[in-house]
Amino acid sequence: MLKGRNLIDPSDFTREEFREIFDLAHQIVANPEKFNKSCEGKILATLFYEPSTRTRFSFESAMLRLGGQIIGFSEPNSSSVAKGESIADTIRTIECYADVAVMRHPKEGAPRVASRYVKMPLINAGDGGHQHPTQTLTDILTIERLKGSVENRIYGFCGDLKFGRTVHSLIKFLSNYEGVRFILISPEELRLPEYIREEILKKHHIPFQEVEKMEPYMGELDFLYMTRVQRERFFNEEDYIRLKDRFILDREKMQHAGKETYILHPLPRVNEISPEVDDDPRAQYFSQAKNGMYVRMALILKLLGIY
Ligand code: NCD
Repeated sequence: MLKGRNLIDPSDFTREEFREIFDLAHQIVANPEKFNKSCEGKILATLFYEPSTRTRFSFESAMLRLGGQIIGFSEPNSSSVAKGESIADTIRTIECYADVAVMRHPKEGAPRVASRYVKMPLINAGDGGHQHPTQTLTDILTIERLKGSVENRIYGFCGDLKFGRTVHSLIKFLSNYEGVRFILISPEELRLPEYIREEILKKHHIPFQEVEKMEPYMGELDFLYMTRVQRERFFNEEDYIRLKDRFILDREKMQHAGKETYILHPLPRVNEISPEVDDDPRAQYFSQAKNGMYVRMALILKLLGIY
């Protein structure tokens, strides 16, 4: 039963519960009009303490396409946060007006703390360099639409694996499935955090390799998940400048990829994928962004107990 639950971390739901969300998302993709009045009379609040394009707009368009309404802020300085209001007070106030809330915050753990103060479902839309579970929903719906299922596949992750919260959530999710293998491509300084290697990969006996070049591995990948170097999480600009251009996927490098190696990226991209790759049929990042709206429609319906 997903009604009334929070989604803060991929471990909050079981495999079966995620299955319910994806099954509903596939139904929505096939027939979106059927759902266009499902959330009439309901309100979704978006509380964004950090910038966003896809996550916020896809949540808002998801609710609007379900016939619901939206309120919220995308710039905390335009709300009482600027007057020094605590997260606890803000979220308790929002609960007076909304049925479900989405929060993005630069501090790791902030959405979990906020969820303790309210009964309405709260969704983590990214907390610092920690987790981003609804991007994982987006990624998995995309993987299923392209290849049918997530099991028995080789996933390459490239770029900022240290601070990239989308990578952390997707690896955490995939580690519960059979036959997955990871190729982790990053500079030494941006390798996956120790806790993910130890508590997730090693604990689940997931085969993985940590490498510093992408070309030799691209041919065997089912998916190559590219990421942006997370400038805002760096302590100094010099390190960012030194690392930011280490991996750039261009047309020449795509020749090393398999015929069915799909390229994913949570977006926004900076320069890690050259625009010349966009026309390649294996480049799927813009359809991935669209899937984000469908899967968030399914999530909202489940958390509100409407489906
Ligand atoms: C990601 C994020 O916010 O973590 N963006 C997104 O939600 N699609 C990735 C990023 O900012 O690099």
